[in-house]
Amino acid sequence: MLVLGIETSCDETAVGIVEDRMHLRANVIASQVELHAPYGGVVPEVAARAHLEQLLPTIDTALVQAGCRLSDMDGIAVTAGPGLVGALLVGVSGAKGLALAHDLPLLGVNHLRAHVEVAQLEFGELQPPLVALVVSGGHTSIVAMGEDGVFRHLGGTIDDAAGEAFDKIARFIGLPYPGGPEIDRLARDGDPTAFAFPRAMLHEPGYDLSLSGLKTAVIRELRRLDAAGIDPNLADVAASFQEAIVDVQLIKTLQAAADEGLDQVVLAGGVAANTRLRERFAAECETNGQRLIVPSIPLCTDNGAMVAASGANLMAAGVTADLDLAVDPNLPLAG
Ligand code: KG4
Ligand code: ZN
Repeated sequence: MLVLGIETSCDETAVGIVEDRMHLRANVIASQVELHAPYGGVVPEVAARAHLEQLLPTIDTALVQAGCRLSDMDGIAVTAGPGLVGALLVGVSGAKGLALAHDLPLLGVNHLRAHVEVAQLEFGELQPPLVALVVSGGHTSIVAMGEDGVFRHLGGTIDDAAGEAFDKIARFIGLPYPGGPEIDRLARDGDPTAFAFPRAMLHEPGYDLSLSGLKTAVIRELRRLDAAGIDPNLADVAASFQEAIVDVQLIKTLQAAADEGLDQVVLAGGVAANTRLRERFAAECETNGQRLIVPSIPLCTDNGAMVAASGANLMAAGVTADLDLAVDPNLPLAG
């Protein structure tokens, strides 16, 4: 069973092809980073226009990479949400056209669920129950996945998403967009204990977390140093900020896993590409005897393979969409 997956929810036009739910046949990304970089962030109209230009060439490249044709496909999967409405519409309209023209089932994929399910391409079938930390540009959620595959919300940010905090701090200290990978790189030369930035809500019950206070604290400290005529060591700032954000996510996620009696932890989404986050979870999960499932970096950041994998799961479960499939910019991961 071959499923082609289309991802256009944000700033990557991405197409993946997956065979029999578990095997990656193609994964092609046409990145828009250079288009948005001059603006310091994603411009929704620019993203939608670029998706329109890139979608068909990206599909062609993926088919060549997989060594197959559209007529070999058994289903067309597409991200239906969450994401930027105009960007999502390009992918969904394109997928509908392909499904109609080739008489194939259409599969409407939840982008956040796909971030988690992509792990099956590298780790085999997920064996819930498990806890997942889904961290991207727009989302920071801690969820439990039950044996029935249904997600249950345990906690998440009450203000900024983790990726958003990374990007905003990066921008403030003059790093190019997207800032997450830049902070990651800069932090490698820094001392994570140089600045004592706050870890909000750590001692409050529940698994919610707050990141906007951390962001404000970093900005306030940089302004204070500037006013005092002190040139901050930006690597130390990046490392200390990153350590605080990793601490909060690690502690809340593993507390949730312990309380729920879950011994498998999945990291998912673009921020799961962060070196320090991966290191700290690996060490802590090993100490606790928990199994850590974290996709390789190209499968953490937005990609088409995750949409194909999640779509293939829908297809296997017989959950197909109609041609009136709507986009939902706010589609939740768990009800
Ligand atoms: O999942 P994703 O590719 O797109 C969304 O669904 O939002 O996540 C993008 C986010 C951006 O905020 C980006 O800065 C962040 O993931 N990111 C990272 C790293 N790589 C990407 N954040 C920290 N460290 C990284 N290495
Ligand atoms: Zn994403």
